[in-house]
Amino acid sequence: MSVLLEAKDVHKTYKLGRVPVPVLRGASIALKEGEWVAILGASGSGKSTLLHLIGGLDKPQDGTIKFQGRDIGKLGPGGLNRYRSRDVGIVFQFYHLLPELDVMGNVLLGAMTQGVLGRKVPAERRSRAKELLTAFGLGERLRHKPAQLSGGERQRVAIARALIADPPLLLADEPTGNLDQHTGEGILEAMEAVVRGEGDGPKRAMLMVTHDPKVAARADRIVRMVDGMIVEEKADALTATQAQVSTH
Ligand SMILES: Nc1ncnc2c1ncn2[C@@H]1O[C@H](COP(=O)(O)OP(=O)(O)O)[C@@H](O)[C@H]1O
Ligand SMILES: [Mg+2]
Repeated sequence: MSVLLEAKDVHKTYKLGRVPVPVLRGASIALKEGEWVAILGASGSGKSTLLHLIGGLDKPQDGTIKFQGRDIGKLGPGGLNRYRSRDVGIVFQFYHLLPELDVMGNVLLGAMTQGVLGRKVPAERRSRAKELLTAFGLGERLRHKPAQLSGGERQRVAIARALIADPPLLLADEPTGNLDQHTGEGILEAMEAVVRGEGDGPKRAMLMVTHDPKVAARADRIVRMVDGMIVEEKADALTATQAQVSTH
């Protein structure tokens, strides 16, 4: 399998007033096509920051992020827009749905680059959105607003939005962090089916932040954010994680 995404020696420092707060200090990570990698790490260690950079929502001060061999830091505004709308899909902990749009509107918005906003949505996009939402059990909720949905339903809308353009890479930032265990389990199963290519879909790569070792144990590989860098979780630590899973 070839490398899909490669972040190398990524540095990110925020400024708090005039005080620099270094968060990423040379973080490196690579994902192969179709690979599911979980990121563990303490709260505030920079996991969301790394996901934002990989998703093209922010830029590092140093280091490179390559998608299919192309440096996304060198893309112009148009190229970056295309990257964000076609190549990666992002699922956040708090859904980030637009409250004034209904379920269909939220999903379709995920497929629009800025230049396309306001233009007519192609019929084939609409039917794809319906198909995804129906597969996620939301076929009867297409005209509902986010406020009329449960947390689990909102997150399924967000997953459909992330998938509408069929991106080969999915980024998920604690996607079950705001849900009760049973609902979270349903969301995980839906995401797992998506990345494993169940049904008629292709396999997809996924980089998933989680604080739950049981969730991480389902991934192909686990890494950890420590001191602003990514360290590979050792095999014995992984065994410990799995032992923990089986005793729970
Ligand atoms: N926009 C920002 N401005 C300033 N500091 C930030 C900003 N975003 C995150 N931080 C700080 O960067 C650190 C890492 O944050 P984050 O990436 O959200 O961590 P994690 O997702 O691992 O909990 C935290 O100390 C946080 O307060
Ligand atoms: Mg976070």
